[in-house]
Amino acid sequence: MKAPKPIFDSWNMANIAVMLLYRQLLRPLLFTLDPEKAHHFSTQLLTFSAKFPGGKALLSALFQPKPKPVQVAGLSFPNVVGLAAGFDKNATMMHEMALLGFGFIEIGTVTPKPQAGNPLPRMFRLPADEAIVNRMGFNNDGVDAVAERLKNRPHHLIVGSNIGKNKDTPTHKAVDDYLIGFKKLAPLTDYVTVNVSSPNTPGLRDLLAIEPLKELLEALTEANMALKKPVFLKLSPDMANEDIRAVTQLCATLKLAGIIATNTTIGRANLKTSNKRIAEIGAGGLSGMPILERSSEVIRLIRRELAGEPMSIIASGGIHTPAGASLKLQAGADLLQLYTGLVYEGPGLVKRIVDELR
Ligand code: FNR
Repeated sequence: MKAPKPIFDSWNMANIAVMLLYRQLLRPLLFTLDPEKAHHFSTQLLTFSAKFPGGKALLSALFQPKPKPVQVAGLSFPNVVGLAAGFDKNATMMHEMALLGFGFIEIGTVTPKPQAGNPLPRMFRLPADEAIVNRMGFNNDGVDAVAERLKNRPHHLIVGSNIGKNKDTPTHKAVDDYLIGFKKLAPLTDYVTVNVSSPNTPGLRDLLAIEPLKELLEALTEANMALKKPVFLKLSPDMANEDIRAVTQLCATLKLAGIIATNTTIGRANLKTSNKRIAEIGAGGLSGMPILERSSEVIRLIRRELAGEPMSIIASGGIHTPAGASLKLQAGADLLQLYTGLVYEGPGLVKRIVDELR
């Protein structure tokens, strides 16, 4: 007879200990810092830990789940949990983030020319809501610098590139920017995400209207003829349901690999954070727990609309727990991405989700 599987193996216990340590010690410390500074501090801490003798082995043992490969869009993902765009905008953290157990990493958003993004402060925590508001504005090193770094990308997991347009590119010339990003990054990454849903670049979300979107996606499909890379479109949770249906049909007609649902919202409904604080923070995209429900609803809507079409859905929005992850898969997602959950729950979250889904 097979011995019963132990509920707690020692590395699971260590993962739980790290989670508690993060919540009780590291998170309170990080939350005393400005959110963008905290981001830089924690990425530097991770880079330093990985360089320390034995550091990589320890990080892997603590955070990497047992492989649970899934095939999506013709690619083999080591597990379903990915790092959402915006965390590693410049492809400088791919190897370190891989140590935290992610099955895939989406770098970007990358624009053709480097740009500084919006003035500081531009990232805010809403702890009562386990949320973040950001108006980063596509700060990034530009496509050439990022392409150079991607030559040294990790190959044991999937790397996607998320492309956008420069702030000073008029909307009617946006297609040119996306084509530059696509041509330079698609050959170096496993899939490409077309980001027309960030709320922090003026006019960007106008590209979600059917006519400009059709023009953009047709141009990219044409550029993709020889490469045949999986292309995903990232949607906004603020779109009306009928627009989501129409865009889903367009993606199916153009045989896109899939849709990422969703980006951040400009909405501020049902928050525990005071109205005064919300007003102080000002404009930006809200992510985290408050968008869990709407993002999941968008997934259900897309899945129903696809009705058997061979397209995939990547869930993004408010995944902070294994239960949140299950909700997304039940809604019809094939893969998951997270960002804000990592800030609130710490680096043990990936393993917890993958192991629990097992
Ligand atoms: C983002 N997100 C994002 N998305 C994108 O397509 N391009 C980007 O450059 C960024 N930048 C970015 C910065 C910051 C600080 C945050 C918090 C988020 C959106 C992100 O990829 C994701 O779609 C949403 O945050 C929803 O997922 P979470 O954070 O609720 O897990």
